[in-house]
Amino acid sequence: MKQHPLLAAALACLLTATAALAAEAPRVVTRDGRHALLVDGKPFLILGAQAHNSSNYPAALKPVWDAARDLKANTVLMPVAWEQVEPEEGRFDFSFVDTLVREARQQGKRLVILWFGTWKNTSAQYTPAWVKLDPKRFPFNVDRDGVANYSLSPFGQETLKADKRAFVALMGHLKKIDADQRTVLMVQVENEVGTYGLVRDFGPAAQAAFEQPVPAAVLARQKPKLAASGTWREVYGDYADEYFHAWAIARYIGEIAAAGRAVYDLPMYVNNALRNPLEQPPKPWNKDFASGGPTWDVIDIYKAAAPALDIVSPDIYSPESEQVNANLRLFQRPDNPLWIPEIGTKPSYARLLYAMLGRGAIGVSPFGIDYFNYSNHPLGSTATDKSLVEPFEPVYRMFAPIQRQWAQWAFEGRTRGAGEGDDRKPQQLDFPGWTAKLTYRLGSFGEPAWGGEFAKPAAGTEQPSGGAAIAQIGTDEFLVIGQRVRVRMEPAEGTRGFQLRVEQGHYDAQGRWVMERVWNGDQVDYGLNLPAQPVMLKVRMARPR
Ligand code: DGJ
Repeated sequence: MKQHPLLAAALACLLTATAALAAEAPRVVTRDGRHALLVDGKPFLILGAQAHNSSNYPAALKPVWDAARDLKANTVLMPVAWEQVEPEEGRFDFSFVDTLVREARQQGKRLVILWFGTWKNTSAQYTPAWVKLDPKRFPFNVDRDGVANYSLSPFGQETLKADKRAFVALMGHLKKIDADQRTVLMVQVENEVGTYGLVRDFGPAAQAAFEQPVPAAVLARQKPKLAASGTWREVYGDYADEYFHAWAIARYIGEIAAAGRAVYDLPMYVNNALRNPLEQPPKPWNKDFASGGPTWDVIDIYKAAAPALDIVSPDIYSPESEQVNANLRLFQRPDNPLWIPEIGTKPSYARLLYAMLGRGAIGVSPFGIDYFNYSNHPLGSTATDKSLVEPFEPVYRMFAPIQRQWAQWAFEGRTRGAGEGDDRKPQQLDFPGWTAKLTYRLGSFGEPAWGGEFAKPAAGTEQPSGGAAIAQIGTDEFLVIGQRVRVRMEPAEGTRGFQLRVEQGHYDAQGRWVMERVWNGDQVDYGLNLPAQPVMLKVRMARPR
């Protein structure tokens, strides 16, 4: 068929515009203190699946893809280790990265790359042998007596130079193979940094820096404790050593991240082995967490020393709901998007996804979504087969088809969420004009006040497993997603209003709502009782005229 020249030109224009759009780099954006990860120009919700630590080899990938597919994850988080890409100094081998990116595309998954370099869970274990074997050139932290500790010093100039060079080579390679498709969304720089057992490096270079005045950028963000300016000790007293170590490590990582971004500008973040979020105010370091890591109390130091990092993120392995909620509050800030790159795979974590996604996290990822014959129990599940993903899949199944829309709503501040607390108590989510009241352990019919059987906790609720995420999609309209919870939508205090219509349904591939049935009668008389398997409801509220 002959094409009209004008039509052909218009088509060509459209194709170029589409290609340009597809190639737009992922980036983190902030508006009104809320954040979004833009992918191909639009907010994207990472429904992640993190592989085990040793799955970064071509032969190890199939069990990862299988688990990620069963979970309905849209993104896989995969380590790339310094030891594997630079086995000999200056000789780079990115063949694994090539396989990873190619297979991710075949699987329809995006990627987050985890750079296991100078520090992996604070240790040097993923550095190449030529680094490990040369402690003179690549020095460890030393204690007050000059005795070397196991963790590399952030004052090792050669270490920084070498790590940076390898990281820059990796970013250059990613640019070469992926700038046109953007399979890789973000990069984690190092993994759970800090030092256990030693508050900071006491080597000569570190000591000299410790005696310098605290940099102005740090003073501007991390509130001085004793004096407005001066040395670390003068300004921060008993906290000086750990703050200094945080600054030293942050500066080191920040320099690597900045060099990587100069070559290929992707969002970058660090993850954190948490300190107790309920210790308020936090006490000076007492060997009870990794000093220098990006714990919540030094986020400001990281922001000051490493502006090339977009996010400081929590790895959540304490499933107590009070701890989880405290961590979510502490890491979600107007200057720090909430992104949870690791949570344990124990079934009890699944309900907490509602709290995370409801609060407006840019994403979440259970750790060890991988049918490799290995379990990190008791942090995670004992399962290494499909039952590993079963508690999480139903939640992902709800969000996967609407992930873009949900991320947009979250960015606009329309979403809230909660997971059932260990105390099993009712919870409340407030929206402009309306309130959602959540109660747990109830059956689907009747009120506990009626006594007898009605007052007994429903079967199957022995362990906390409920939760809901709710989006206010119009002034009087809500999308409710959840499981094992009774939701009552009510007018905000002091106002009048009622529930007009409740539809159960889903969104189709085009993002259109498909109504399956209207809930009425028994199904609404005692609140909206969301069953063990999650459902999606569209709830229309109204005001009396
Ligand atoms: C947190 C680390 O970041 C992960 O790489 C892994 O070691 C888990 N802890 C434990 O399985």
